[in-house]
Amino acid sequence: MADSKTSIDSQSRDAETDATLRLEGIKKSYKIGKSGEVEVLHGIDLVLGRGEFVALIGPSGSGKSTLLNLIGLLDKASSGLMFLTGIATENLDDRALTKLRADAIGFVFQFHHLLPAFTAVENVMLPLLAKQGRPDDAMRKRAAELIDKVGLKALANNMANNLSGGQQQRVAIARSLIMQPALVLADEPTGNLDTKSADSVFDLMREVCDTSGTTFLIVTHDPRLAQRCDRIIELVDGLIASDKKNTQVLTKGDDSPLPVAQRAAT
Ligand SMILES: Nc1ncnc2c1ncn2[C@@H]1O[C@H](COP(=O)(O)OP(=O)(O)O)[C@@H](O)[C@H]1O
Ligand SMILES: [Mg+2]
Repeated sequence: MADSKTSIDSQSRDAETDATLRLEGIKKSYKIGKSGEVEVLHGIDLVLGRGEFVALIGPSGSGKSTLLNLIGLLDKASSGLMFLTGIATENLDDRALTKLRADAIGFVFQFHHLLPAFTAVENVMLPLLAKQGRPDDAMRKRAAELIDKVGLKALANNMANNLSGGQQQRVAIARSLIMQPALVLADEPTGNLDTKSADSVFDLMREVCDTSGTTFLIVTHDPRLAQRCDRIIELVDGLIASDKKNTQVLTKGDDSPLPVAQRAAT
């Protein structure tokens, strides 16, 4: 752990630069058997700014899910510092971590984990319900607006298990947004979707990013989908191997990449 001066410096820097996430020297080891340990993240430094739309790519086993779980406060780093919306996380107790996770982070997984016997709109309400205890009109209204935003107005009252894979993933995205998180973490969100559904789920996340300032960090295997992001970070063997601004962003309806300058002009 670094000394407290480092933390304070990092915190004030985040306030100045509007960083949603800052990682400094993050390492993660897993225990293997009784006494063994294996380090899978070897020192990750990363800053994500407000409203960035970022792809995280890399071979299977390179540590992408491990990194997302740490950033999502679902697991703890072995060492290093993490600041989420400027808040230092290393000394927070479980209760404070749970609160920060609920307030600051939305999750979208490959398998959406919707509750099958609840309707689409009820699934979207769940994170807010968990916080407030019981439903009210404001909550129903907000969930209905999000269902509308993800293009499922007509299906709002369908049971989740009567929706297609792409529709369920749209519900999962709406659910991830109901707490108005600063950061959405998506681990292969389109991994089990056909190309067309995957494209439209990406378009949707992009639109949310552009209109709300939410930062997105999206793990994907698909280079074509990574190409839709503004920045592409590649993880190899537990280290960031490359971190590049994408100058040929593919956007909605595009089938060929255009340089950013040209895109702005069209
Ligand atoms: N709970 C765990 N215990 C032990 N090893 C793990 C655990 N989770 C992941 N690993 C190992 O950590 C490495 C990175 O895994 P992971 O983060 O799932 O990679 P990716 O998402 O890039 O495929 C792999 O070698 C994997 O076997
Ligand atoms: Mg993974």
